Amino acid sequence: MSVSDKTVVVTGAGSKRGIGRATAHTLAAAGWNVAILDLDEASAKDAATEVAERNGVQAVGVGCDITDEASVDNALNVLDGALPPVGALVNNAGITSPTPFLAVSGEEWDRIFAVNVRGAYNVTRRLAPGMAERGFGRIVFLSSVSAERGGGVFGGVAYSAAKAAELGFTRALARELGPHGITVNAVAPGLIDTDITGGALEGDRKAELVAGIPMGRNGRPADVADLITYLCREETGYITGATYDVNGGSHIH
Ligand SMILES: NC(=O)c1ccc[n+]([C@@H]2O[C@H](COP(=O)([O-])OP(=O)(O)OC[C@H]3O[C@@H](n4cnc5c(N)ncnc54)[C@H](O)[C@@H]3O)[C@@H](O)[C@H]2O)c1
Repeated sequence: MSVSDKTVVVTGAGSKRGIGRATAHTLAAAGWNVAILDLDEASAKDAATEVAERNGVQAVGVGCDITDEASVDNALNVLDGALPPVGALVNNAGITSPTPFLAVSGEEWDRIFAVNVRGAYNVTRRLAPGMAERGFGRIVFLSSVSAERGGGVFGGVAYSAAKAAELGFTRALARELGPHGITVNAVAPGLIDTDITGGALEGDRKAELVAGIPMGRNGRPADVADLITYLCREETGYITGATYDVNGGSHIH
């Protein structure tokens, strides 16, 4: 069995300039068939068509709200039989918010956790049993430098807390799933040029942030995509429970 006999599920890969879509392309270029789950059904389908055409693999895009267990179940049922068995999962879908703690509402707090943490739980809980049964799996979580350094980039306390929860999730799951041939790792990107901030991080603040990056630029989605693809390789079977920084040196610890 090689990766061309397997499917990788990438959540939130609809976004045109996002990390997920870049990752779907890089994984497909490495031979993976790709399933894309995104809240925005049209963008999920568009991404799947693009991935299949550009890389000559099978790809399917499904509309799905990862915060809703039934929606996740329905979306993953669509894949059964349509694509080869799932060998990897990239928990990429996420939302951020810069709201200061003294202004954040319980509703906003819950929403940030619903997508970043509960969403990752819903998809992982549904896919991990099949991986365990087949004795092979690669799971990658998108955490953030915000979890490590305590915000200070864009996201507020809710985002940092949710992204830190993903690190605990990664580490404990790695311990539990290792005996089943499944590795579980996290990547912690610094500031990557995508649309997640909705254009709210521009001008002086952006220049100030870039000035603090040894590599002298913001990250690109491809920088993160390469790392994720490496962690998903079959050969990368002895790295688990790890967190990989991809931040241009903006946070060295
Ligand atoms: N861009 C950065 O600077 C940066 C830095 C560190 C970590 N990250 C993390 O990387 C991941 C991807 O970020 P991005 O910048 O590419 O974001 P993005 O906003 O470009 O893409 C996020 C995607 O997730 C989808 N999504 C949102 N809620 C969803 C839901 N409930 N169900 C299904 N899909 C949903 C959106 O439709 C979108 O396509 C996120 O987890 C983010 O927290 C990003």
